Amino acid sequence: MKVLIVGAGGREHALAWKCASAARVSEVLVAPGNAGTAREPRVRNVPVAAEDIAALTQLAIAERVDLTIIGPEAPLVAGVVDAFAARGLRCFGPRQAPAQLEGSKAYSKEFLRRHGIPTARSRTFTRASFDAAWVRAQRAPLVVKASGLAAGKGVVIADSTAVAVTTAQAMFAGQFGTAGHEVVVEEFLAGEEASFIVMADGVHILPLATSQDHKRLRDADQGPNTGGMGAYSPAPLVTPTLHARIMREVIEPAIRGLAADGMPYTGFLYAGIMIAPDGTPNVLEFNCRLGDPETQPVLMRLMSDLTALCEAALAGTLGAASAQWDARAALGVVMAAQGYPEEPRKGDTIEGLERAASLPGKIFHAGTALAADKVVTSGGRVLCATGLGVDVRAAQREAYALADTVRWRGAQYRRDIGYRAIRRGA
Ligand SMILES: Nc1ncnc2c1ncn2[C@@H]1O[C@H](COP(=O)(O)OP(=O)(O)O)[C@@H](O)[C@H]1O
Ligand SMILES: [Mg+2]
Repeated sequence: MKVLIVGAGGREHALAWKCASAARVSEVLVAPGNAGTAREPRVRNVPVAAEDIAALTQLAIAERVDLTIIGPEAPLVAGVVDAFAARGLRCFGPRQAPAQLEGSKAYSKEFLRRHGIPTARSRTFTRASFDAAWVRAQRAPLVVKASGLAAGKGVVIADSTAVAVTTAQAMFAGQFGTAGHEVVVEEFLAGEEASFIVMADGVHILPLATSQDHKRLRDADQGPNTGGMGAYSPAPLVTPTLHARIMREVIEPAIRGLAADGMPYTGFLYAGIMIAPDGTPNVLEFNCRLGDPETQPVLMRLMSDLTALCEAALAGTLGAASAQWDARAALGVVMAAQGYPEEPRKGDTIEGLERAASLPGKIFHAGTALAADKVVTSGGRVLCATGLGVDVRAAQREAYALADTVRWRGAQYRRDIGYRAIRRGA
């Protein structure tokens, strides 16, 4: 069987690596991939952009691809699954209509409210309907969100209502392009975040192993928000009781609600959830795809054949499927380029990858490219050094042994990925 992975990040390298490990998979194509997928056995990069839906369908037809898995949100929100389905091609991911859950935070908040799923109180505004007086009457801090896709940069935590007003106005004025034409202003929720990721086939739900990521740039969860500086699985924060509660109060009503709204959801569904100090879960957002970097440690622990699970979901038989997980913990440390997240420098040569390949664990590539047989940086998040161990601490040790073997000019990474789990005794 031939598999196509769409995307170019660490998540897609992990997907390609995992799919290529299945005995029945003859080859994995990645569009467009990175230097890591270029060097992966049984994996081949094809120079097709992840957003070029017409070229992707042509590629799948020309290469006789049996199964396509979409990594990033942009092609899903643009309707890639609908385009594949129209040509009878099997493509795992939500169609355009339910992908709005990620594509429009305004839509998502309205959906959550309508289906009684717990989330922060909020109001949605356009420039025309903006009510600055209402914002000033709220209690700070407030969270101001550009509704559309903003590559993880469209959320501002405003310490005062005055800042919330100017932030919303900047969004209306085009700071995030059309993504800011609608703005959600919501109450700030205290607590600890967890990533809750499931597979769905429209009706049935298969939860993936629990995971948690670190979004801030610097140690002790300080500094600016990023796409994610590291992640681990399992997440001891998500106890079996909390897991059952999130399934009951969030995931099941969401999948049921989407079906009732006439847009059944097939694909990975990721709920970003704030767990209050008293254990109450509230949805921060939905993503219509796997998380990056959560995917890297989660797939490292998946012992089942991912392609078979995707096929079961596409056939509507996920209810009869199950996933086996390695009992060990996995932890990934993101290594970023100098200047990340504002202005990452590109083109630095990465040294030490050969030595790292002889160590236990796995380095997944993200922003890397091949330049005259050398691997060079080509994006903000460059690598994700991922380790396995009997517990989170042991996985952390293995991940840092890998990370410390690799270097390039200005490489930056946190030294404390997993500390919250380790503090909980994991
Ligand atoms: N209501 C909220 N209260 C506290 N923090 C929030 C809230 N909403 C978002 N955040 C913080 O902002 C981050 C980004 O917000 P999110 O809604 O996940 O948007 P995106 O991932 O699209 O940028 C979250 O991971 C969380 O740390
Ligand atoms: Mg998020």
